[in-house]
Amino acid sequence: MGKIALTGDRPTGKLHLGHYVGSLNNRLNLQNDKGFDEIYVMLADGQGLTDNFDNPKKIRDNIIQVALDYLSVGIDPNRVTICIQSALPALTELTFYYMNVVTVPRLERNPTVKAEMVLRGFNEGDEGLPVGFFTYPISQAADITAFDANVVPVGEDQKPMLEQCREIVHKFNTIYGETLVMPEIMLPKNEKATRLKGLDGKEKMSKSLNNCIYLSEPADSLKNKVMSMYTDPNHLNVSDPGQVEGNAVFNFLDVFCEDSHFNEYLKDYKNLDEMKEHYRKGGLGDVKCKKFLLSILEEKISKFRAEREKWQNNLSDVYDILNIGTKKAKDKTDATFTRVKKAMHMDYFIDKDKIVKEWKEILGK
Ligand code: TRP
Repeated sequence: MGKIALTGDRPTGKLHLGHYVGSLNNRLNLQNDKGFDEIYVMLADGQGLTDNFDNPKKIRDNIIQVALDYLSVGIDPNRVTICIQSALPALTELTFYYMNVVTVPRLERNPTVKAEMVLRGFNEGDEGLPVGFFTYPISQAADITAFDANVVPVGEDQKPMLEQCREIVHKFNTIYGETLVMPEIMLPKNEKATRLKGLDGKEKMSKSLNNCIYLSEPADSLKNKVMSMYTDPNHLNVSDPGQVEGNAVFNFLDVFCEDSHFNEYLKDYKNLDEMKEHYRKGGLGDVKCKKFLLSILEEKISKFRAEREKWQNNLSDVYDILNIGTKKAKDKTDATFTRVKKAMHMDYFIDKDKIVKEWKEILGK
């Protein structure tokens, strides 16, 4: 079998630079890699509903936002199949059967589920933990296996999901015979790039922390956000020595700055090391650093904005991309489900003669 990649996002909000650095960039590399036969990107609206079940409109509205985010950064629909999870019934059916090969304590140990439970307050109060949310790692295993994906490009935080998926594949294949493809995780190559902090210097850029720069960020709010970023609280005067570690501006520069940017926007230095050295010593002000970062980000995001604008004016094309992509994904996942049902001896209505013969044998006729 060829190389097949599947990845996805919950459409719960517009994507931001953290997503770009942590996963979208990786997907762009993937689509240029001729080694892949099929690449799927899924809008996981069903999974999005597991912690937003009381707000279906939020999920629905973000389908188009995230689709535009994909297209605006350059995901090429001719190379990548973009599809919508809820229109693929094989995924929910597979989930039902995979539930048999996963135990409750194993799910309870899943670190991603644990962390997200705390984040969403599912571990406190009287309402308790929704079963749908608790079992979403099983549904994610269904996503992955339904596409026969052998490569799953995701961020570090999804490691436990992949481990759990691999266990399901192993157990399923042991019981029912070699049926499912064993997937491998594909983490972003650039170690530093996986860690984009928030504007406030907090560990992670995240919508719920309200510390994001969106891929669709307008120029004026981009400027406001960059100019109010967290730096070094002890760097009060330009002449004071400054700290680069923990400083959000330098974290962003670590991720986005290239040597050529100095030639273009800040001729005082040859590279980031020189700039950092000056900042550490004292004499380099935050405003100057921020303006430099703003130039770099504006260059990048203005391209996304222009591309987004183009697609926004052609929403009928976006609809067709999602519709065609989802149809292709449906054929693919239905085929896998047929194979799985056969493995589980549930293929009743495919070959009548075979079944009638079998019944006769059972009944001794
Ligand atoms: N859980 C992933 C996230 O929150 C989204 C997702 C759903 C996914 N299904 C997937 C990722 C299948 C990879 C493969 O980011």
